[in-house]
Amino acid sequence: MHFKFCHEDLSILSVGQGEPRSYYIPFTREVAPYTDRELSGAFTQLSGKWSFGYYPFTAVKNYLPERVGEIPVDEVINVPANWQLERLHEEGYDKPNYTNINYPIPFDPPYVPNENPTGVYARTFDFKKEEDRRQYMLFEGVDACFYLFLNGEYMGYHEIPHSTAEFDITDALVDGENEVRVVVLKWCKGTYIDDQDKFRLSGIFRDVYILDRPEGHLIDYTVVTEAQGEDYIVSVNVVGAPGCALSLKSPMGAVLSDVADEDGNALFRVEKPLLWSAENPNLYTLTISYMGEYIAEGVGLRQVNIEDGVFYLNGVNIKLLGVNRHDSDTVNGYAVTMAQMERDLRIMKAHNVNCVRTSHYPNDPRFLELCDRIGLYICDEADLEAHAAWGLQNGLINDDPAWKEAVVDRSRYLHARDKNRPCVIMFSIGNESSHGANMEAAIEHLHNVDPTRPVHYEGATNNNDNEYNSKSPDVYSRMYASTEWCENYCTSEDYDERPLFLCEYSHAMGNGPADLRDYAELFFKYDRFMGGCVWEWCDHAILTGRKADGRPVYAYGGDFGDEINDNNFCCDGLVFPDRTPSPGLLELKYVYSPVKARMEDGRVILTNRYDFTDLSTLTLKWWVNGGEAKEMPIPSIPPHGEGEIELEYALPDSGNAYLNLSFMKGKDELGHAQFALREETVNTAPAPMGEVTITEGDESYTVITADTEYTLCKSTLTFLSIKKNGKELLKAPSGIQIWRAPTDNEKEWKSTWTWNCGFHTAKAKTYAIEAECDGKSAVIKAPFAMVATKNPVTLRGDANYTFTGEGVEISLHMKKTDRAPDMFPRFGVRFILDKSFHKVTYDGYGPYESYIDTHAASLIGRYEDTVDGMFTPYIKPQENGNRYRCTMAKVEGADGEVSVIGNGFDFSAIPYTAEIMSKTAHNHELPESDETVLSIDYRQNGIGSHSCGPQLLDKYRLNEKEFTFKVLVKFYKKKSRDYGHGIFISILISRPCGL
Ligand code: GAL
Ligand code: MG
Repeated sequence: MHFKFCHEDLSILSVGQGEPRSYYIPFTREVAPYTDRELSGAFTQLSGKWSFGYYPFTAVKNYLPERVGEIPVDEVINVPANWQLERLHEEGYDKPNYTNINYPIPFDPPYVPNENPTGVYARTFDFKKEEDRRQYMLFEGVDACFYLFLNGEYMGYHEIPHSTAEFDITDALVDGENEVRVVVLKWCKGTYIDDQDKFRLSGIFRDVYILDRPEGHLIDYTVVTEAQGEDYIVSVNVVGAPGCALSLKSPMGAVLSDVADEDGNALFRVEKPLLWSAENPNLYTLTISYMGEYIAEGVGLRQVNIEDGVFYLNGVNIKLLGVNRHDSDTVNGYAVTMAQMERDLRIMKAHNVNCVRTSHYPNDPRFLELCDRIGLYICDEADLEAHAAWGLQNGLINDDPAWKEAVVDRSRYLHARDKNRPCVIMFSIGNESSHGANMEAAIEHLHNVDPTRPVHYEGATNNNDNEYNSKSPDVYSRMYASTEWCENYCTSEDYDERPLFLCEYSHAMGNGPADLRDYAELFFKYDRFMGGCVWEWCDHAILTGRKADGRPVYAYGGDFGDEINDNNFCCDGLVFPDRTPSPGLLELKYVYSPVKARMEDGRVILTNRYDFTDLSTLTLKWWVNGGEAKEMPIPSIPPHGEGEIELEYALPDSGNAYLNLSFMKGKDELGHAQFALREETVNTAPAPMGEVTITEGDESYTVITADTEYTLCKSTLTFLSIKKNGKELLKAPSGIQIWRAPTDNEKEWKSTWTWNCGFHTAKAKTYAIEAECDGKSAVIKAPFAMVATKNPVTLRGDANYTFTGEGVEISLHMKKTDRAPDMFPRFGVRFILDKSFHKVTYDGYGPYESYIDTHAASLIGRYEDTVDGMFTPYIKPQENGNRYRCTMAKVEGADGEVSVIGNGFDFSAIPYTAEIMSKTAHNHELPESDETVLSIDYRQNGIGSHSCGPQLLDKYRLNEKEFTFKVLVKFYKKKSRDYGHGIFISILISRPCGL
């Protein structure tokens, strides 16, 4: 093979490879499909420990090709792995770099820097060579490109990091010991189209192996399944194996046989077919045998088609309830094991996810096999993204003929490898690369080679109003479109005729996403809405260690000294890096629930959202709060059907009553519903209990009731002290609050809230204050405003605090001024208590974090928790831990308890103040806390998903022009709840006021 440097040469995309082919592993005996490939006699695993040398390309260049064997490789590296993550804590090899859009190198396509980090991999292996056989070396994933040498001989070149490269090594391979050397470069011309939003990592990150095959072996095959009347036709076209024997075995064991004709065609007619779907992943076994090789293939009988703008699988208008997934492990980067892939998929299934978009490149080929078996629909995406080029020189990659083959090649490799996977229901040519002739060519390629699957490319359809609305993709794809836009698409005549697919929606960065339900409701409402995929599955942070208290130390963009970086934008998953579900995933589970319930005139009606499964496969549990749960099988309700169920339940004599339904598959809950049967208004007026006195000082009032002594600042309405039996309960002055630690979704609003409103410094200022006391209660009244340095007043109100022996009723009647922003972070009061107040009990949406726009996972009920348990450790600290619509909340400590009652307030009790969280970049940097921060809010603003998605919907904004916040706060001594008659001395406090 003639050697030539080609990593900057657009005319050479690969060297030494045949046509890419479907993924299969030949065995030397008949096996079941998906048998572990390491058990095949044809398979030699080369993954493991390799020798390694790490250099700038300039140091390696002169060795190639003749002296490749002389490059020192004195270190040892794992294959598969990313070299940046090996020896992360030492002076290792390069550092991880997280960048979203920006290229990590100067924009000079197709050229890349000369100081190109280069890893030289080497290993020896013994091989027993026999006559009349051919050997191939396969690489399933290498970033970014590599030159391959065997026994000093040049074998070829490959780029496209996430595709399989296969080299015929027969002529260079010797009987006995062989040495393979792989020169891997961090950058090549392909880097300009490998611009996916991810940590940029390099090296051999998937398996390397040899296949040993008979001379003249089968080359490739394509399986197509198609409905014909009641039957299914399975047609197989085999390349390079005329007359090969084929058999098709049904899941029940019936076997059909055929022999390929001279064109390689074989055909099976399957009667009474058992179809494949994500709900019922039935698989037939196709066995192809030729020249002593056996290839076992799982075949799913299924058919995808689009008619009148509606997407169908097996004739059913299915919904794609999806997520976007990157290959990402917090320790090993792109090198994910089968067990890890399977774990991801099982967690997805357990959360009602039925679809994955392999953003933005093909996954390990065995990932798709897992999806076949576990039952997930795949939008299989080619390794292509030129996001930065789109902005820097639009027209280059998308339109310039010089780039055409490079673009099309990515779809070619994708389709060739994955064409036989039943789980793949749609191919995508890539992501965010703008649109043009080259993109059209890639779409056309897929159309030509595969008429059985729709083609996707969001870049071609992302805006109906501009030149990018190409008619070529089969589905109309958008990312982060607002629900309003989606609804308009589905209902308006002016829009496209294609089904709508949201390749990305509900950006799951930090706290959130909180708009899942609004989207899912529309998926189910409109036939033309295919569904969509949440962005994204996991946080991509890298684990760099642990704190002494066990907290993981996660790193994101910039933490490795990487200059071009996008900060914590990679922490945007539904699961934390260790796969702990975040509250967003729990929300998704209930939003994607296969059963939906509604109550009409006291009747409960269930809707079956399954596409192929009758609801009689599930059981229903129901109970009224506080009562015993009953259980029954759900009666037959066909897919997409509705049915009424009769439930017997008794109402408790008094108090709030909710009917709760839980939809169970065996022991697993798939969804739930709740109906309010009775909701009573809570009276927050405190009952008189014992004597009350009030003393006025220069700065504050001191109110003494039973055994509690409150000191309230006259100018800021701040509680300077609250003492119980002489013991101070407050750790710090506590009062009215408006600020919360900005969530990632509030990045834009944060500047309005800080620069234009000064909310982070806001405090109450009274204009006048007066107190009354009749011996049984004391009332303090003040007109006031929320003021912030250098900014106009945004809220004015009247405070009315009523103290009795039972507690203090805080009543705040508020009005927005015309200088107020459209929405506020929150409005309420907080009490900063000692951390010994640790036990939490509440009545409200629980047991999970909940806000006005994200409480599908929670039901109103009574829950117990702890202050640590209420806290969600988002990698970048931000507002968290809220419980929505509470009527009671209580925190208990050794010295007493604080409880609150009201009518649907927001509540949280977490170890950190908004001020501390606001200024901390990583969760592990939060100091050890000695506080419990109890927040009681009229309401918190919604959460949304504006970190990438649309603005928070109006209905979730805290934007009332006028409102009244009223709660009763009670302070008890721990054990005795009697309001004893101690002797109290009133002390005038004159310390300065302030929050
Ligand atoms: C999209 C992109 C994704 C990711 C996301 C933001 O524009 O396709 O790859 O960058 O935004 O997290
Ligand atoms: Mg991008």
